[in-house]
Amino acid sequence: MTNFLSTQDWSLEDLNETLDMAALLKNSPMQDHLNGKSVVLLFLNPSMRTRTSFEIGVQQLGGIAVVLQPGKDAWALEFEPESIMLGEAEEHIAEVAGVLSRYADMIGIRAFPTFKDWENDRLDKVIKSLATYSNVPVVNMETIIHPCQEMALMLTLKERIGGIAKKKFVLTWTYHPRPLNTAVANSALLIASRFGADVTLLCPTEDYILDQQFMTVAQENAKASGGSVQVSHDIEASYKDADVVYAKSWGPLPLYGQAEKQIDLSANYKHFIVNEEKMALTNQAVFSHCLPLRRNVKATDAVMDAPYCAAIDEAENRLHVQKAIMLKMMGHNIKTIKQ
Ligand code: CP
Repeated sequence: MTNFLSTQDWSLEDLNETLDMAALLKNSPMQDHLNGKSVVLLFLNPSMRTRTSFEIGVQQLGGIAVVLQPGKDAWALEFEPESIMLGEAEEHIAEVAGVLSRYADMIGIRAFPTFKDWENDRLDKVIKSLATYSNVPVVNMETIIHPCQEMALMLTLKERIGGIAKKKFVLTWTYHPRPLNTAVANSALLIASRFGADVTLLCPTEDYILDQQFMTVAQENAKASGGSVQVSHDIEASYKDADVVYAKSWGPLPLYGQAEKQIDLSANYKHFIVNEEKMALTNQAVFSHCLPLRRNVKATDAVMDAPYCAAIDEAENRLHVQKAIMLKMMGHNIKTIKQ
């Protein structure tokens, strides 16, 4: 059984084949590989792109997608093992995973961290417990990482600049009025280092460096791929000669769980906004963002409307890569895609 919890669990060969399958599916979207199959999508948090692209993607492959929002239109869930369930949760993931495994052929889950205790959240327990109890493959629709977004970014960069090996990839923090999940930033770091980019993590201070588990894996990826990973707090030097600028906001981890303090600190760094002046320093870089994005807070209108902005392409590519991921999880390969 093949789960897709993290790109790190898949070989580079499988990731590349999945990207090639996605490119074929982009040209031939309607397939019948999921005829008679069903996929349950558990959303513990809001979504626009992920929900739409998964639902439509399953339909385009001939299958049926069922969306459930535990705590809203389905019973609230407990994930901790050996929990004495006297709180809000009406049922345990053990039963939910068991039941859904009898109905469906695959389960997706979006489970953001709680934003209370990073030491607990960094363990990504919710998706791991679902994968433990499930008898069908599980796909990550964003937890503390966002591997489907990583694959969409990679397909987009392949299309725009032919790949990122030895290219300067700047992952820049940007301001946002609320402390956000580090998932997309963690994922950008993982995939860019995996595919051989020279990665610069640009952030205001040490407080914004990503969790050590991801920094360490990124360094290991870079060693294997011939790329590199460095941290910089120098905006001008980071943008200079960049081939890719990827923007995301996240809350400073040392203040995790203290939203007001995170908000106060981040308010000092509104000048990290991506604008035309900064983009002019680059090597005609591609700019992208996972979306949603607050215009004129994270990036200016001029950047979002520029031809070098690939954010909409990346969002479209979510559809194609997720279909390829689901097919790989169900045992298909590039030879089984109908053209
Ligand atoms: N990028 C992304 O996952 O978008 P949604 O939160 O709208 O699904």
